[in-house]
Amino acid sequence: MSAPNIETIVSLAKRRGFVYPSSEIYGGLGSSWDYGPLGVELANNVRQAWWRWMVYERDDMEGLDSSIILNRLVWKYSGHEDTFSDPLVDCRDCKSRLRADKLEFSGEPGAPKIGGVAEMIRQRRIQCPNCGSKDLTEPRPFNLMFRTHIGATAEDDPESLAYLRPETAQGIFINFLNVLNTSRRKLPFGIAQIGKSFRNEVTPGNFIFRTREFEQMEMEYFVRPGEDEQAHQEWIDACYQWYQEIGVSAENMRLYEQPKEELAHYAKRTVDIQYRFFPERDEEERQWDELMGIANRTDFDLRTHSKKPENAEGKRLNPDSTEDLSYFDEQTKQRFYPYVIEPAAGVNRTILALLMDAYSERTNEKNETRVILKLKPAMAPIKAAVLPLAKNKPEIVGMAKAIKRSLQPVLRAVYDDTGGIGKLYARQDEIGTPFCVTVDHQSLEDEAVTIRDRDTWEQERVKLADLTTHLLQRLKPEA
Ligand code: GAP
Repeated sequence: MSAPNIETIVSLAKRRGFVYPSSEIYGGLGSSWDYGPLGVELANNVRQAWWRWMVYERDDMEGLDSSIILNRLVWKYSGHEDTFSDPLVDCRDCKSRLRADKLEFSGEPGAPKIGGVAEMIRQRRIQCPNCGSKDLTEPRPFNLMFRTHIGATAEDDPESLAYLRPETAQGIFINFLNVLNTSRRKLPFGIAQIGKSFRNEVTPGNFIFRTREFEQMEMEYFVRPGEDEQAHQEWIDACYQWYQEIGVSAENMRLYEQPKEELAHYAKRTVDIQYRFFPERDEEERQWDELMGIANRTDFDLRTHSKKPENAEGKRLNPDSTEDLSYFDEQTKQRFYPYVIEPAAGVNRTILALLMDAYSERTNEKNETRVILKLKPAMAPIKAAVLPLAKNKPEIVGMAKAIKRSLQPVLRAVYDDTGGIGKLYARQDEIGTPFCVTVDHQSLEDEAVTIRDRDTWEQERVKLADLTTHLLQRLKPEA
């Protein structure tokens, strides 16, 4: 079982402290969310799992943490200033702002193109999804980059204009030579980065699925031209496998080959891993949306940021760059711009997919329905909850607290005595804690505790001396 819809997760997330609406005491801020005590742990687990898999477990990877605000020229030459926009349409009646490429109209299969939509709007064949009016403006491009100004200058001084990065990728491209030279790498190799990105989305929404501030886990893998297609396919397969390893079920994932008209200006081929974020929708095709994208960006980025390339008239294509980001191959004695394969995932969408997939319900012997979050132990915000069976017995409470302290250097453990044992178990099930460690009267005599499994509700007696090793063994990623 997985969550029937995103709303179920929104309510669980707020009730139990995973994610809260941001700035709530001032009326909120559209589509902004804050990660609470459990959400921050889950996000950390996602980042750590990705970094371990992507960087530590490979021989061909380096890490990077570049700035959020980069020189504006980065966004000029990457193409973002000119092309990173959504086609915006206004409804003249209800004043909604809409994305033209997401508007639906009858009789036309597939996503409409901007020219096509403009024509349909002129013919009044598209309705506003909010009020049904057909009085819509023509689409116009709306750049998604957030603007800011650097230094103590006037707001309208064009020299001070800067952007919050809309992707982490460009920070990697502009550091290609730095990493290459300092790490003495040879092709193929990759540079990985995790960090916040910002997009002034026209229609954010669906909880943490589409927000204006979000976090990306991106890696740029540099290969020889000609080796790009095979490397691309290998990364598609590897990413699909990784999502299953962290707990996303194959039934709720699929690969989506972007058609030519959807490809970004830099991409030769892009395959998205989609997740069934909207299972409640009748039409199967509308249940899916992007979890991550894996693009073959060709040599576009390294070439565009280089000072060398010239046009047919011998004029430099990038007169502002001071470096040539080409690569000299010692074996073939050739110089070229490496091709780039880019697996680009979102931390927030990964969290949403994990929560939706882990959601399950179970009815107990008293016919009460309990929520159980069947997260993989490695993803669970709390690994073990230590619970005293009798909170009025100082010896039991003392022993439980001591056990919690003994576990905390190696795993995230909590102590809870704020309810009866049934209620405490239910609370831990709902937040995905894989193990409850119960201290009872007998523990005082036999130096053993009961470990209760979240998924089976089975109980096992374990000697205190073996507890940490026992838990660590069962918490292993493959467990
Ligand atoms: N560098 C390539 C790139 O940024 P993208 O498909 O635009 O590609 C990669 O973004 C991933 O970032 C997406 O698959 C998604 O998981 C996440 N993402 C993008 N925009 C987002 C948004 N507005 N809110 C939440 N996550 C977003």
